[in-house]
Amino acid sequence: MTREFEFTRLLRAYRKGIISEQTFEAEMALLEGNGGGFTAMGKTYGCERDAIVAYIQRARNGEAAGAAALSNWAGVCKTDCMRSALRTIAEREAYHVRVMDRKLSDLGAQCEKAADPELDKFISMQSDPNISDLDKLRRIVSSFGNPEEIIKPIHDFVSLIKDDLDAKEMLTLWAEDEYSSLKWFVHAFTALGGSLEEAGNAAAAGMSSAQAPQN
Ligand SMILES: [Fe+2]
Repeated sequence: MTREFEFTRLLRAYRKGIISEQTFEAEMALLEGNGGGFTAMGKTYGCERDAIVAYIQRARNGEAAGAAALSNWAGVCKTDCMRSALRTIAEREAYHVRVMDRKLSDLGAQCEKAADPELDKFISMQSDPNISDLDKLRRIVSSFGNPEEIIKPIHDFVSLIKDDLDAKEMLTLWAEDEYSSLKWFVHAFTALGGSLEEAGNAAAAGMSSAQAPQN
């Protein structure tokens, strides 16, 4: 029986209420111990630490793009009541980068800054003074279904962490910040007259390849 199969079997039993959360976690710990690896995000890593490093490296680059995009956007924002909120979220993104870099350093890892054309495109659009604030908000809101959905994978990953409780707490707080930022984007979009249905349709049709700033 493969570890992946065993994991799926356990998860199904837990979701159906056949086993308790405590039993599920104990079995998962055994499974991780037996396999000598750590499975997350559809991949098996050598150990929990390697998975955390990979996760933070990926998240960190998204946060850096978010910080740049939102800071630039605040500089050209034409909607007075939005400017300071954009600055607030830009600051959140920037301090996430700093904290993540510190954690990577604690783990003996470097941040691998990978080129990402989608993130470059996102920064460029959000910095453009000729694109309206509503269109910029639409691009962000149509890139995710709802704030809960986009945050769930963070919580899913956090729930797998058993040893590095420092990373677990850091990522939990990060998820809370992201959730707050995403809720504000939805609020601002609808306040400016944007339609969530229209944004949802655009997302479903794959019309937007926008990347939300957190991931
Ligand atoms: Fe973010």
